[in-house]
Amino acid sequence: MKNNETKERWIQHYSSSHKILLVGEGDFSFSACLAKAFGSAANMVATCLHTEAMLWVRHWTSTAHLQELKRLRGLVLYQVDVHNMNEHPYLKYMKFDVILFNFPHAGHYRWLRERDSILIRMHQDLIAAYFKTAKEMLLEEGEIHVTVRDDYPYNRWEVEKLAECAGLQLKDKVEFRKENYPGYQNKRGGNINCNQRFPLKACYTYKFTLKVSALENSDGSEVYESASTEITSIITTVEDLQI
Ligand SMILES: C[S@@+](CC[C@H](N)C(=O)[O-])C[C@H]1O[C@@H](n2cnc3c(N)ncnc32)[C@H](O)[C@@H]1O
Repeated sequence: MKNNETKERWIQHYSSSHKILLVGEGDFSFSACLAKAFGSAANMVATCLHTEAMLWVRHWTSTAHLQELKRLRGLVLYQVDVHNMNEHPYLKYMKFDVILFNFPHAGHYRWLRERDSILIRMHQDLIAAYFKTAKEMLLEEGEIHVTVRDDYPYNRWEVEKLAECAGLQLKDKVEFRKENYPGYQNKRGGNINCNQRFPLKACYTYKFTLKVSALENSDGSEVYESASTEITSIITTVEDLQI
């Protein structure tokens, strides 16, 4: 995790020595902000759902940010879908200290309002898919971050419950302030006014880690098991381990 050649630099929760994967980027302004703060993007992989051609149509403001990432030796990948990013030809060989998704959103539909259950369910499915694949891509003690709005109806997404179901545990929940990330422009995404910003009211970055249950061996030492459905179905009691 430490790079001895250059001095470690921090911006909020993120360090230049972290291997960072950014998913669901809009115009790559958040990635570029981190890269500039670090003075390098060599440890970063910045991704978006769009093809390169579609990104230019949807987020024409991305050009400068992509140039900055290229100059600072970042890897930019297109067409990275959180549903299967762990099988992506490059990403499947990589592990990360931090994986982050700012303001996940399943898209805008003229016939659906944000408070409609069907759209809320779509957002939840997206976040659940993100947790499921990101889990497979973490280095030891790695963190999965997601930043969401906390006002209604966004607070109905129940991010913490989704994480719990995915076998993750909450490490921290920190207020997200856009002014802490110079140059970042939060984008609506989707196919209606995609490059426009949206109001950021109360927002939080949730930091999750793999769920770890501390169990005690018969000799008193601790055994740490990452939670997985497989493991929990086999090990039902602490006594089962003490054979
Ligand atoms: C509200 S925008 C936020 C964009 C950007 N993260 C930001 O903070 O400005 C939601 C983003 O989620 C992305 N997204 C939606 N479904 C996705 C998926 N299946 N995989 C990866 N990204 C997805 C969209 O492409 C869009 O960029």
